[in-house]
Amino acid sequence: MKILIINGPNLNMLGKREPEVYGSQPFEDYFTTLQFKFKATELSYFQSNIEGELISKLHVANDSFDAIILNAAAYTHTSVGLGDAIASIEKPVIEVHISNTFAREAYRHHSYLSKYCKGVIVGFGLKSYDLAIESFLMK
Ligand code: DQA
Repeated sequence: MKILIINGPNLNMLGKREPEVYGSQPFEDYFTTLQFKFKATELSYFQSNIEGELISKLHVANDSFDAIILNAAAYTHTSVGLGDAIASIEKPVIEVHISNTFAREAYRHHSYLSKYCKGVIVGFGLKSYDLAIESFLMK
């Protein structure tokens, strides 16, 4: 199975950014442990701070991956365009968040994406990504 992980704005700063909320591990390090753990799965990773690049990546991913894990970060709460992009593709998308967005500011409680996603995994730290992969691998 080929799974693409897409991270949105500011997630390139993981490890340095608000470690009390997001932990102290850079995503690239964590991605290596995911590749080790899920050896039979072909994992790829893309990060962008630019909304249009995330939208274009979703379009292209539809042809080259079986499933997508998306942490759109702040765009989750603002982007009708990203929601429309998920709706426009056939491959399943799982929305993930590292922090428990529902325990944070009210503006983080709404997602423009969830409605179009297969499921949502929120608040398990970086393990949210593990859980998303596991759920794609479950029969
Ligand atoms: C986040 C939660 C968002 O509200 C926030 O803007 C992020 C990260 C998370 O993974 O917890 O940048 O998506």
